[in-house]
Formats: sequence, C-alpha cells, structure tokens
Amino acid sequence: MKIILSKNSKIESVDFENLEFGKIFTDHLFICKYSNGKWNEGKIMPYDDFLISPSARVFHYGQAIFEGMKCFKSDDDELVLFRPEENFKRFNISSERMAIPKIKESIFFDGLSELLKIDRNWVKKGSGNALYVRPFVFASEPSINASEALEYIFMIICCPSKSYYADQQIKVKIEEKYSRAAKGGVGYAKAAGNYAAQFYPTYLAKKEGYQQIIWTDSNNHNYIEEAGTMNLFFRIDDKLITSPTSDSILDGITRKSIIEIAKNLNIEVEERPVSVDEIVEAQSNGSLKEIFGTGTAVVVLPIKSFGYKNKDYSLSEITNSYSNILKEKLTDIQYNKSKEYEKWKFIIA
Ligand SMILES: Cc1ncc(COP(=O)(O)O)c(C=O)c1O
Repeated sequence: MKIILSKNSKIESVDFENLEFGKIFTDHLFICKYSNGKWNEGKIMPYDDFLISPSARVFHYGQAIFEGMKCFKSDDDELVLFRPEENFKRFNISSERMAIPKIKESIFFDGLSELLKIDRNWVKKGSGNALYVRPFVFASEPSINASEALEYIFMIICCPSKSYYADQQIKVKIEEKYSRAAKGGVGYAKAAGNYAAQFYPTYLAKKEGYQQIIWTDSNNHNYIEEAGTMNLFFRIDDKLITSPTSDSILDGITRKSIIEIAKNLNIEVEERPVSVDEIVEAQSNGSLKEIFGTGTAVVVLPIKSFGYKNKDYSLSEITNSYSNILKEKLTDIQYNKSKEYEKWKFIIA
C-alpha cells in the first residue's frame, strides 16, 4: 500500500480535554477508488481537502453510506477495535442496498489497521477517550444521470472523541408525525440520507426541549423503533425489552453486544415489538424502571424522561441500574480491562 506521510502533525495543537465531537481529524486518511468495475489499490495520505466535480452523483442523488466504530487504547498501549468485522459486514449490507459495489475485506482491514498504526498517538487512554473511526463511500462519478454511479471513493477518517453526553441523562420525544424509515425502505442501512431526513424533525423536537426523537413505525406510530443514533432498551420490572431489528431499524452492534452480556448476567431479555401504549402504561403503574439507548457514540445512555402526546413522563431515580452495570461491563471489554469476550476485540499491536 502506498503511504504518504504528513509533514506537519497537528496533534500538538489539539486540546484533548475539550473536544467537540466530529470537528478535529487525525493527520492521515485512507482512500481507495473504484473505477472500471473494480476497487483499485488504496493509499494512506495526509488528511486534507480534495477536488471533486460539482456533478459528482453523491451531491444529486445521495448515493453514500458510512460506518462508525471506535478504537480504544488499553492500559498496555494496545489499540483495541470493538467488533470491527461487524461494521465491515454492515458496511457491505448498506452498500448493497444503495447499489454501491461491495468492498473487499482486505481493503477495509488493511486500510484500517495501517491508518490506526500511523495515527496511534491520537488514541488516548482513559475512560471515555477513544478514536472515532468513520469509513464511508460515495458516488464520485461526474454525471447527473439519475442512476447508480460507475465510480466511487471509499475513505476512512478518524476523530478523537470523549464520551458523548458525558454522564448526562437525556430527554426524548416519542414521534407521532414524522417517520425515519418505512417497510421496504433503507432504514436498516447506514445511508447518509437517513440522517439528513432526521435533522428537521429533531430540530423541531429540540425547540420543545428534547435532545432526541424516539422513532415509531411509519404505519401508525404505535410501535417503538429506535432513536437518532441509538437502539433502545426498556426495563419493565426486571426484564429488558428491545424491538427486534427489521428493515426499518439499524442492526446495532452495541445492541447485540448488550443483549449477549445481559443474558450472560442472567438478565431476562425479550426481543419483540414494543408498543408506545405499553411503555406509557408501565410508566403509570410503576413497572417501567429504566430506558436506555445503545450505540457506538454513546455506548449506553440512560433516558430520564420522555414526551408523548404533549405530556412529559419522568422516570424515578434507580440504584443498581442495568444501564450502569451493562455499560461498565461493555467498556471494560472495549478497553481490554476484562479478559472476557476476547472474540470481540480486534487488537492492533
Ligand atoms: C440509526 C442508528 N441506530 C442505531 C445505532 C447504533 O448502532 P451501533 O451500536 O452499531 O453503533 C446507530 C449508530 O451507528 C444508528 O445510526
């Protein structure tokens, strides 16, 4: 693989204690181009702006997908990626749905490993610190013909991050009007447009004092789907309930990890449709103990209250919350503090 190293590292100018998520990028990126029916050899180069035609199809038809994963640094200075093979699989599932050519496992992992080795000083130790890794692919072919492109660019960029919503609990709105995804649509893909479509309803919800939206099914808005970039869990009495994944819900890697960890801790987990009425009823009769979201960015995030039909419902404080227990277990694995779940760790020496 060709490697062009940056002449001036930016790292000394970065205040790692006060990072705004997603604004600062490491010194290098990985890039690989698709043309003439195949992915060419990738290369590492300095992170910088690049030229692209105004007619590149991505700007007109949104043919783009992405992934999000985190790289952690263990106390022994190892770089630890959490289940990246799951991100790779989902990357190609998303690509297929958006008619983007799939990428080879070797390109994805060689690019990823090489980039992380080169920018390893950007991964900081300590709880909450991680390097957020963003692989993405977009239609770069200059043409505004409304069909899939013949040329694409795959890239990996990385940004240092602290924990999102650090130690906060958030307030969410259960959506009754807008939809994020529909049956037969692209909700299960990490398609760029899925996120753009959330911004306006989320902006409206923010004006009402909520941080995020809980999306409901697009037919009748009766069933809970997921939140902005999180899957959702509800603890009713001592049972955890989460919606099954479907073509309108992203198959979260944190979600499936939390389900496995919870089951191994003998917590009962049910994957089944969750109705909004059931949650409101459980809140009224006191059996709703916790709501939390799971996702790469937030890890496990408690939700302290929810709004539905112009009424706000606040959950009571709880000790020994499942969200705390599960978050601690998961982060111990991610930072390689715990020797369990070895198969989930992808260690770069
Ligand atoms: C829409 C959506 N749901 C759920 C998730 C959580 O998925 P994961 O745990 O794989 O990060 C994400 C984040 O990737 C997301 O964008």
